[in-house]
Amino acid sequence: MPEYLWRPPNQGPVQAIDTYIKSQEERFLNELLDLLRIPSVSADPKYKADVARCAEAVKKRMEEAGLDKVEICSTPGHPIVYGEKIIDPAKPTVLVYGHYDVQPPDPLDLWHSGPFEPVIKDGMIYARGSADDKGQFYMHVKAIETMIKNGGLPCNVKVMIEGEEEVGSDNLGDFVKANKPRLKADVVLISDTAMIANDVPSINTGLRGLSYVEVEVTGPNRDLHSGVYGGAVANPINTLCAMIASLHDADGRVNIPGFYDQVVELSAAERKALAEAPFDEKEWMKDLGVSAVKGEKGYTSDERCTIRPTLDVNGIWGGYIGEGAKTVLPGKAFAKLSMRLVPDQKSDAITKLFKEHFEKIAPPYVKVVVRPHHGGEAAVTPIDSPAYLAASKAMEETYGKKPIPTRGGGSIPIVALFEQELGLKTVLFGFGLDSDNIHSPNEKYGVFNYFQGIRTIPRFFHHYAASPR
Ligand code: BES
Ligand code: MN
Ligand code: MN
Repeated sequence: MPEYLWRPPNQGPVQAIDTYIKSQEERFLNELLDLLRIPSVSADPKYKADVARCAEAVKKRMEEAGLDKVEICSTPGHPIVYGEKIIDPAKPTVLVYGHYDVQPPDPLDLWHSGPFEPVIKDGMIYARGSADDKGQFYMHVKAIETMIKNGGLPCNVKVMIEGEEEVGSDNLGDFVKANKPRLKADVVLISDTAMIANDVPSINTGLRGLSYVEVEVTGPNRDLHSGVYGGAVANPINTLCAMIASLHDADGRVNIPGFYDQVVELSAAERKALAEAPFDEKEWMKDLGVSAVKGEKGYTSDERCTIRPTLDVNGIWGGYIGEGAKTVLPGKAFAKLSMRLVPDQKSDAITKLFKEHFEKIAPPYVKVVVRPHHGGEAAVTPIDSPAYLAASKAMEETYGKKPIPTRGGGSIPIVALFEQELGLKTVLFGFGLDSDNIHSPNEKYGVFNYFQGIRTIPRFFHHYAASPR
């Protein structure tokens, strides 16, 4: 047996589903590789046809898995694929959400193999989207097939896989608002997050919100010779850098008036509970290649990346960046910035605070334009709901250990919207690892993680359908 098909011992009684999954292993893997070959990059219009082709492929696979009424729902942007299997309206309904779109693969030269030519090496599937989120949502399609083929689903399921998560899910929000009866369910189940380690299972119980902006700083009305004018005309790149530097204070806090006003501080007991999750800071630093950490004073590294809001520059450009040197005093400078938000900060309000502040601190020698991009709200999920308990039990069976609840630092804006529009709580049933390089070159997903998800999801359905309500 290839090494990547290894699984831990002590999984308890092997059920029919495990035997079925084992018998289909190769096909389950190949079908995922086929999906990974489609470059469904939502951000870049040049991939529009590929995104549509990917939606078609997802539709076909959902039909083959045994889902009914599978449909491609077009939107003003990329399509949503929806399907369902209602076995008994009196039984509870699980709404599975995932996304088939992926981040752009750049920078291409840092990939060891093509981002859309998946290869399996040392038990890892290397490809853009392998962990985020094709490999993870497809576990649900295969788990559903497995249940249907082995005694049937224990409750109803609705599956919605969108193509715009990586660009802010704007059209999905409208789709949800327009399709409330169709999406009626009891809980949302999403595999699009990570756990601590393959031998330390955990379940995310929170996501951060997001506010994303682009800024343009204009100085002189054209590029200038930096010898003829330099020293007397403000350089917009220098100015932008100084403005950005002023956005944090000496304690590492975001220096925008009102930024922290709505932040809900965690109690000492809550912080203590979160600190119980194993986190080896030295190992973490080693993995990242940093020799010191930095962040908001008074918080641990783990807290800084989960329960605290942040501000980061995502890109900055201007002037000459080609080969060799060019002595230019550029006319313009640009940056993209994002703020990660926590409850109860509101994305629109924070974007407005940023815009007002950034315009206010602009020195008289530049003009500043702030353009808001997408955003999304933070979400916290319960750890005492029937669905969470079912997820916890399912993982305990397949991993031999009870999962630890942890807070995640990333964002899935639709989670807050599901709660707001459909009144639904989510279980973040993620099987990835932080080391999967999502959004980065050489994204990867463990073959073990993929099959472990396919084995664990049916157990969730089983426990959830059986839980008292
Ligand atoms: N799957 C991620 C979110 C994620 C990753 C949450 C790891 C928790 C742990 C998702 O696809 C994503 O990348 N979301 C974007 C937000 C979106 C609006 C572009 C993000 O977090 O940057
Ligand atoms: Mn994702
Ligand atoms: Mn992503």
